[in-house]
Amino acid sequence: MQFKQGVILGVAAAVLAGGVALAGGHQGNPAVKARKAHMQLYAHNLGILGGMAKGEVEYNAETAALAAGNLATLASMNQMTYWPPGTSTAELGEETRALPVGWEEASMNDVMGKATSLAEAAMAMQAAAGSLEGVQASIGAIGGACGGCHKVYRQPDN
Ligand code: HEC
Repeated sequence: MQFKQGVILGVAAAVLAGGVALAGGHQGNPAVKARKAHMQLYAHNLGILGGMAKGEVEYNAETAALAAGNLATLASMNQMTYWPPGTSTAELGEETRALPVGWEEASMNDVMGKATSLAEAAMAMQAAAGSLEGVQASIGAIGGACGGCHKVYRQPDN
């Protein structure tokens, strides 16, 4: 009897958990979620290097190399599937801050160029992360590459 109850409770819990997972999956466009997650990983790794560069966090060569390596890897990933047509602010409203201009034919080369700038800046950081001076010298180019794209293709904060 006790065993049976346990099984039933277990099944009920599994159904509930499944329901929550389904509801979660239903909210929001998966491609938008993926690109935001990718951006958050950029921000996390850049934050580690930025903290060291500013002296807020003690420089640690291993951690710096790890963060720089992650940035370089992330920046070299093919992100095409994160940006399907129909997922800009024009179609999805507040769910996204990606401006429609990013999907215009005339923007394609520029978007790619901005993504490439970030990849290059991240590789330069990776080569320089062995010293605090190197991190400090390389961080501006990364911030510039992030900001350069946001300025044109991301809706400003309200
Ligand atoms: C090629 C263009 C481009 C580059 C390069 C880029 N971003 Fe973004 N980023 C965007 C766009 C577009 C959005 C808006 C995405 C959305 O809301 O769907 C965004 C959104 C974000 C967000 C908000 C994510 C969220 O959860 O809503 C963060 C944080 C962010 N970027 C950080 C960075 C950092 C840090 C870098 C550099 C290491 C970077 N980005 C490089 C285009 C770019």
